[in-house]
Amino acid sequence: MAYAFEDIRKVGVIGAGIMGAGIAQVLATSGFEVVLNDMSAEAIEKARAGIDARIDRLTEKGRLEPEQAEAAKARLSGSCELSALSDVQLVVEAIVERLDVKQGLFSELEKIVSPKTILASNTSSLSIASIAKACDRRDRVVGMHFFNPVPLMKLVEVIGGAATDRSVIDTTRALAEAMGKVPVLAKDGPGFIVNLGGRAYYTEALHIHGEGVADPAQIDRIMKMAAGFRMGPFELMDLTGMDVNYPVSTLIFEGYKHDRRLATTAGHAYMFEAGLLGRKVGQGFYDYDQDLPKLPSVPEEGARSELSVVLPERATDFAALTDRGLSTAADDGAMPILVSPLGEDCSSMVARLGLDRRRTVAVDLSAVQMGLVTVMTAPGGSDVLEDVTRWLTQAGLHVEVIKDSPGFVAPRIVSMIVNLCCEMAQIGVGSPADLGKAMTLGLNYPFNPLDHGDAIGAERVLATMEELQETTGSERYRPSLWLKRRARLDLSLSAPD
Ligand SMILES: NC(=O)c1ccc[n+]([C@@H]2O[C@H](COP(=O)([O-])OP(=O)(O)OC[C@H]3O[C@@H](n4cnc5c(N)ncnc54)[C@H](O)[C@@H]3O)[C@@H](O)[C@H]2O)c1
Repeated sequence: MAYAFEDIRKVGVIGAGIMGAGIAQVLATSGFEVVLNDMSAEAIEKARAGIDARIDRLTEKGRLEPEQAEAAKARLSGSCELSALSDVQLVVEAIVERLDVKQGLFSELEKIVSPKTILASNTSSLSIASIAKACDRRDRVVGMHFFNPVPLMKLVEVIGGAATDRSVIDTTRALAEAMGKVPVLAKDGPGFIVNLGGRAYYTEALHIHGEGVADPAQIDRIMKMAAGFRMGPFELMDLTGMDVNYPVSTLIFEGYKHDRRLATTAGHAYMFEAGLLGRKVGQGFYDYDQDLPKLPSVPEEGARSELSVVLPERATDFAALTDRGLSTAADDGAMPILVSPLGEDCSSMVARLGLDRRRTVAVDLSAVQMGLVTVMTAPGGSDVLEDVTRWLTQAGLHVEVIKDSPGFVAPRIVSMIVNLCCEMAQIGVGSPADLGKAMTLGLNYPFNPLDHGDAIGAERVLATMEELQETTGSERYRPSLWLKRRARLDLSLSAPD
């Protein structure tokens, strides 16, 4: 049976919670008749009041004409009876996230709606194929994954199950577009695109923290200053709550059969088990009774002392500092030695190049345009760290001093984000274009990871990953074949197979 968007006039929304209410609102303001169903009459009433109030606010702000607002409200009705959905052309289910309950509902719905009605689920974590398993007609079951808050978040993931008909997917995409949304096609797998793609940011930050490299506030600061994230990974985890992000991380790790690239840390589990859930309980990685740290301002360039250093490798990487007056010279046995590792730590570079560990400082210059430099030294103390940081500060740079880390903080997290996005392209979680849209619109990332990888240079990202893997000995840093092939052939990371 072929399904067509032109047939969709009336839509049923089941579940009048946070998501269902938002979906019903946007459908009604986009011109569709909507029946909002919930087993609780109270939930429908509460949702209705919220929708009316939000529509009124849109009118006050001039975003809706008063008559459009009234028409939208009139298009929306509520009912506790599933039979009220008998004449809808599409149902969006947004009830409790339990497979048995969703399967029971879908099987019940099949007895009520017409054979031409599309059955869409807003599930975040269940597979569409597993929900469809309970249905006689699996070809009309599809995923339509909205993001909270639905009226504001533009992205919708459209997910076909193993048996979903192409015309059902196309119709669902067209409906999302008619709702003013940006649909992307996601593979029916753990976390779809967005919840899977979000893992690298959180979990790599947790690994860095777990290794004692830097504390949450410092990692957040670096990611905001260096990479343009609006929120640091720990602030974000506190906002979503450990009761959400820890189970999602576990589910995705299990779903992808323990791929180490997706592993979270024991520290994350501990936060969850200890009830340190984040903002909602007043305590997570931050204590919400205290003032939260603010971003430091970049220092003014001041009168500078002379600093002469040795650059044993990749001297050209230091142009940003030599432009600021850093001078280089032959080693006199006492001067600082500066290195700029990609995915190595300072200790590995000291050992590989046979350097004096007490005089070697590793410098991350990847965010120098943003006024930030991250530095680290090998264990055992440094004779020159103070001189180097003083000079950098006088040169108008904010300096973050961290403990030794392969790939520092920002290059390490960013490389993991790019590598994961490459892997998602490789295993067909989404097309390169859809992955970019999903990561920017669904996660509010400041960049499309594949484009950002191209901007850094695929070869550089690959070298960082290979060095991370070599330094740590961990499979976690295994480069994706997608990245390897494109880096080696000098192709864009968005080049299709
Ligand atoms: N909250 C989010 O950020 C978010 C984002 C994307 C997707 N989702 C998914 O959307 C779905 C709903 O999430 P939510 O946060 O809106 O939940 P919610 O708890 O706010 O609302 C669920 C509603 O469903 C109703 N309900 C439960 N079982 C029902 C049934 N058998 N028949 C009719 N009504 C029933 C409940 O009474 C409740 O009003 C879940 O599958 C969730 O995974 C949630």
